[in-house]
Amino acid sequence: MAFAPSARQVGWIKGAVFALALVPLLRMVYLTLTGQLVEPLEFITRGTGDWTLYFLCFTLAVTPLRRLSKWNWLLKLRRMLGLYMFFYGFLHFMTFLWFDHFFDLREMWKDVLKRPFITVGFIAFVLLIPLAVTSTNAMVKRLGGKRWQWLHRLIYVIAPLAILHFWWMKAGKHNFTQPIIFGTILGILLLMRVYWWRKKAAAA
Ligand code: HEM
Repeated sequence: MAFAPSARQVGWIKGAVFALALVPLLRMVYLTLTGQLVEPLEFITRGTGDWTLYFLCFTLAVTPLRRLSKWNWLLKLRRMLGLYMFFYGFLHFMTFLWFDHFFDLREMWKDVLKRPFITVGFIAFVLLIPLAVTSTNAMVKRLGGKRWQWLHRLIYVIAPLAILHFWWMKAGKHNFTQPIIFGTILGILLLMRVYWWRKKAAAA
């Protein structure tokens, strides 16, 4: 049976998701400030990278979950989840710029060009920027629904780039388990859309 919370209940759910999404950041700050980490810089770079990827999965899971469960209210969480993906991506990039390069943009740029896994991560992050900037209702209106939708399909490019970034990073250690798991999850989420598009096209 479809679970259809009232507007007020959706507000509570959104508040809870907002607070929960901050927990990983607060945990990283707490563990760093209390000196519990052996390698804090590595922990933060990796932690923020992981959470960017998790929020990418959560964001892309909204539409399939909504279609399968008929819980249309789930759509109301999508923008927040997408913005959290950008937020953790931004922190991930900033930790790299700060801890790896002490805000030296020339050095950072050299590194981006030299190491392919960073080149790919950088492209994925740059592509996230227009999505975050155009996430407001005012921007949807300004661009028009169709153009906004086309622009936001960039997420289908960002997802494989994120997996490639992760894969390439782990390739150095010959440890592909996690990239395979996340590649499979994102692959299924994208293939479900392809299936629905084809079905719609065939019906038309
Ligand atoms: C959509 C954008 C991005 C996603 C989803 C992402 C995701 C990830 C993930 C999942 C990891 C591995 C964490 C682990 O080992 O558990 C990682 C590591 C890393 N990423 Fe990203 N990343 C993104 C963008 C970037 C950007 C823009 C940069 C820098 C320009 C960057 C630099 C790094 C570095 C330096 C590491 C750690 C490598 C190491 O510890 O050896 N990433 N990223």
